[in-house]
Amino acid sequence: MIMKNVTVVNHPVLKHNLAVIRNKTTTREQFLSAFKKISYFLLETAFLKLPTKTVLIETPLETMKTKVIDEKYTYIIAPILRAGLALTETAIELLPQAHVLHVGMYRDEKTKKPVWYYDKTPDELPQKTKVFILDPMLATGGSALASVELFQKKGVNIKDIVFISVLSAPEGIKTLKTAYPDLKIVTGDVDKCLNNNAYIVPGLGDAGDRYFNSLIP
Ligand code: PRP
Ligand code: URA
Repeated sequence: MIMKNVTVVNHPVLKHNLAVIRNKTTTREQFLSAFKKISYFLLETAFLKLPTKTVLIETPLETMKTKVIDEKYTYIIAPILRAGLALTETAIELLPQAHVLHVGMYRDEKTKKPVWYYDKTPDELPQKTKVFILDPMLATGGSALASVELFQKKGVNIKDIVFISVLSAPEGIKTLKTAYPDLKIVTGDVDKCLNNNAYIVPGLGDAGDRYFNSLIP
């Protein structure tokens, strides 16, 4: 699937690690380690177009012109709770000047619609703001859509929002792109479809449960 503003990161190391986290027999250590590597590749791609400015610095040998990230912009990393937390540490490592604004919602088991439970985002955001929304799974697209709408209503230009997922279903991409053609999506893979329970197939199962090992047998 080739779509405007949708980037599927095709790096072999990312693909290798996707196979690790998809596999149901992967150990906890392997899962966490592979997830971390995947997050680097996704965020590296998502941050490629960060605005820069030219500055003069002095190395021990001479003065040189070089580029740094433009601090005129406000950068926001917005993990969708809970599974979005799995990508957050890497995002902060790569872009420590960003503000982390959590958006809390879960998908209702019956309706599959997102239910908000946490939002402390300010009422208004500065005009020059770039938002990076993190969520490993783009399934129906309901959660993603609600979080994009949140930032758009607070004045952020759609062109300044990037949605980052590890896996996406075609249905979720379609939902987001229909509502917001200019939204940028960076994803590790686009899977076949959703099953009757709106889970991504083949997918990796429940991302939050697997990342946090939250199911007690
Ligand atoms: C998962 C996932 C997304 C959402 C995707 O979260 O992390 O947020 O479902 O589904 P959608 O595209 O159909 O909205 P979940 O609601 O299970 O919450 P969790 O992160 O707390 O496990
Ligand atoms: N949430 C998940 O964690 N996995 C899916 O496949 C769909 C929604």
